[in-house]
Amino acid sequence: SPDFSQFFPFQISTSSSGEEPCYAGVPMSSIVEQGLGVGDVISLLWFKRSLPRYCTKFIEICIMLCADHGPCVSGAHNTIVTARAGKDLVSSLVSGLLTIGPRFGGAIDDAARFFKDAYDRGLTPYEFVEGMKKKGIRVPGIGHRIKRGDNRDKRVELLQLFARTNFPSVKYMEYAVQVETYTLSKANNLVLNVDGAIGSLFLDLLAGSGMFTKQEIDEIVEIGYLNGLFVLARSIGLIGHTFDQKRLKQPLYRHPWEDVLYTK
Ligand code: ACO
Ligand code: LMR
Repeated sequence: SPDFSQFFPFQISTSSSGEEPCYAGVPMSSIVEQGLGVGDVISLLWFKRSLPRYCTKFIEICIMLCADHGPCVSGAHNTIVTARAGKDLVSSLVSGLLTIGPRFGGAIDDAARFFKDAYDRGLTPYEFVEGMKKKGIRVPGIGHRIKRGDNRDKRVELLQLFARTNFPSVKYMEYAVQVETYTLSKANNLVLNVDGAIGSLFLDLLAGSGMFTKQEIDEIVEIGYLNGLFVLARSIGLIGHTFDQKRLKQPLYRHPWEDVLYTK
């Protein structure tokens, strides 16, 4: 198709100029009539194409499983403190979202990048993990504050079960599992976490669906689309935490001073 990019300052895939709004060319009536879901809408708006049902179902499962993980995690804590300071919904939400990053929820893209690079270069888990250690980089997608080898993350198990049952290939995920086997032999907290599970499985989705060229997969991984799944999912939980604090009329939060070590 002709490249009009130099004529149009905005390139969009949502059309609202005709009689009916379209997402990537699919009219909203068709989305509703076909009984499509939020996974399909994400496919259209993020990936610019309709994906097979097992892919959109996988996207929806990621969103459902990452929607919340209780009040004690970084994002929920920030949201709760902000709501209790009397701030509005948007301020409370973004306060929590701003904690999403390389340590918390935002390791999906780097997990995909590093697992893909290591698998494609044929590195053994030993070579990969020890190579990262030499570079002083923690393996993204590995490690958790409370999950352990003998207390696995149910979300990871559910994602793996769905993919093993529905995906044509789970080679990247199986590689991540081999990496986990090696890291668990070093320390019991070095499990494959939910970011690592989604990062590796999304590589399998992109490569196995036959819907993306190699160049498109590289671009998606390089740009970093996948943290968006956690941001979107966790917004659901953070909004819930904001409403909880407002409904329960919780007062201004002040952290117990006993927790603080005062040093000179
Ligand atoms: N790769 C290699 N070694 C690790 C890793 C890792 N990913 N995580 C921990 N270790 C080792 C290190 O030796 C660390 O010692 P160091 O501080 O000298 O580097 C030791 O384990 C102890 O680590 P802690 O700091 O006690 O681990 P903590 O419980 O604080 O960290 C965390 C948990 C932040 C998740 C960590 O494992 C990490 O950085 N993982 C990579 C990032 C990641 O995947 N984050 C997403 C988590 S899931 C989520 O947020 C939804
Ligand atoms: C989460 O989903 O918030 C986490 O896995 C982080 C945590 O510490 O539980």
